[in-house]
Order: sequence, then structure tokens, then C-alpha cells
Amino acid sequence: VTGSVTLSVFLFALLRIIIVDSRLRGIRLQQFYGLISVLYWYLVLLMSAVAKVVPKKSWMAAILFTRRAFGAMVAYFALLHALVALFDQLDGLGGIGLLPLIFRWSLALGAISLVVLLIMAALSVDKFVGLVKFKAWKQLSRISYVAGALVIVHVWLIGTHAAPILMQLIGFEALVMLAGFEAWRIGKALAGKGVRPARAAVVAVGIWVVVTGSLLGMRQLLPSYSKDHQEHIAGTGIHAH
Ligand code: HEM
Repeated sequence: VTGSVTLSVFLFALLRIIIVDSRLRGIRLQQFYGLISVLYWYLVLLMSAVAKVVPKKSWMAAILFTRRAFGAMVAYFALLHALVALFDQLDGLGGIGLLPLIFRWSLALGAISLVVLLIMAALSVDKFVGLVKFKAWKQLSRISYVAGALVIVHVWLIGTHAAPILMQLIGFEALVMLAGFEAWRIGKALAGKGVRPARAAVVAVGIWVVVTGSLLGMRQLLPSYSKDHQEHIAGTGIHAH
């Protein structure tokens, strides 16, 4: 946790030194914080899924120990990202009304995810852990998967770095791999509850196919502000530097 807070301050200081223009500095800072948040989120989900499917190893206990702190950092960096976006880039909440519809939709999805992340982070603090029963905590972690899906759409709709094809490929590969581990975990859990192994395997493959299909469908069906903008610039022959 201390390392991550130091990283956020270090990034703030570094960008102050290397980027002179204050607007661009705010944009880059907000983008870095958003990126770090999703990376932490990805790691937490990957750790949890891998730990359930591979046989227990001693190093795994150490990794799982860091999971709760990582979870809190997802919320911390997402909050910094949102605050810089709202109060530096968009000049406050009033600025949202002036944005194109695609931005307003995207920000609404981002805001819902942020609320879920903050609630989960607050409930994982030692003092409050006992407040939530195990069953409720399980429900909450399911909601966090919905929040994760909303963030993917949030980033797709307006993220500058969602536009380059290389970034799309990296993101797609990473998510397909994570979906594979999650589907495997669910299949294994079902088999453990007495579901026939063949049926559990069909459910697991089904989940993986649905997630992969949804990602491909999102690319085809949902607009991406940055991708459309870049294609428009390429089409008009105007070069943006
Ligand atoms: C109220 C909540 C939120 C607001 C106001 C907000 C604002 C924004 C804005 C304005 C952008 C466009 C950035 C750009 O490319 O210049 C963006 C992109 C992004 N957001 Fe959010 N966001 C919110 C919630 C979240 C959450 C909860 C996460 C992750 C956990 C997140 C992660 C990202 C990422 C990774 C990008 C892509 C950045 C890039 O392309 O470089 N955001 N957000």
C-alpha cells in the first residue's frame, strides 16, 4: 500500500517536471492512474482464479496475502483517476453536461464501477470485515464482475489508448486468458458440488465462449470515440501531431 501511494505521488511529481502544458499533464496523469487501476484489478482477478485451479504451492500463499492490499489499490487509483478527470480535465461536474453523449454514457458506467470498488475497499478494511457475512461478501464479489465489465465498456467508449489496434489485441488476449481461468474455476467448483464433470466442462466452455463473443461483439457494435476520431482524421488526410 505504501509503495502504491508513493507511486501515485511520484507520478504526479514526475509529470509536473516533464510535461510543461498543464492540460496535457492532467490528461496523462489521469490516464496513468486509470491504467494502474485496471492493471491491479486484472492481477487480483488472475491471482484469485489461478489459485483455485492449480494445485496449492507455498509461494501462492504469499501472493494471495497481497491480494487484499491490491484490491484496495484498485479503488485508490480509480478514485485518483476519476478526481483528476473530473476536476482537472473536465473542470468540475458542470463540464459533464457539455460533453458528447458517448462521453456521458461512458462516465456514468465508470462512476457506477467506482462506487462498487469503493464499497468493496471500505468493507475489506479490518475493522469492517466482520460487518458483512460471508454470503453477502460473495454476492458483492459477483457484483464486482459486473463493475469490471462496465469498466471495459467505459474504456472502450472513450479511452485514447483503446484505439490503437496493438492495444486492442493485448487487451483482448489478456481478457480472453482471464476468462479462460475464470471459466475453469467455475467448472471445477461445479464439479466439486457434484455436477457431472462433462456438464461442468460444457458450462465452463460456454462461459468462455460468451465472454469472448461479447468482447468481439463490443468491438463491432459499440462506437469508440478515439478510434472513430482517428479514422476520421486519416480519412480527411489531416495529420494530428
Ligand atoms: C467517475 C468515475 C470515472 C470518471 C469521471 C472517468 C473518466 C475518464 C475519462 C475522461 C477517460 C478518457 C481518458 C483519455 O483517454 O483521455 C477515461 C478513460 C479511462 N478510464 Fe475512467 N473514469 C471513471 C472511472 C473509471 C474506473 C472505475 C476505472 C478503472 C477501474 C477507469 C479506468 C479508465 C481507463 C483504464 C481509461 C483509459 C485511459 C487511456 O486510454 O489512456 N475509469 N476515464
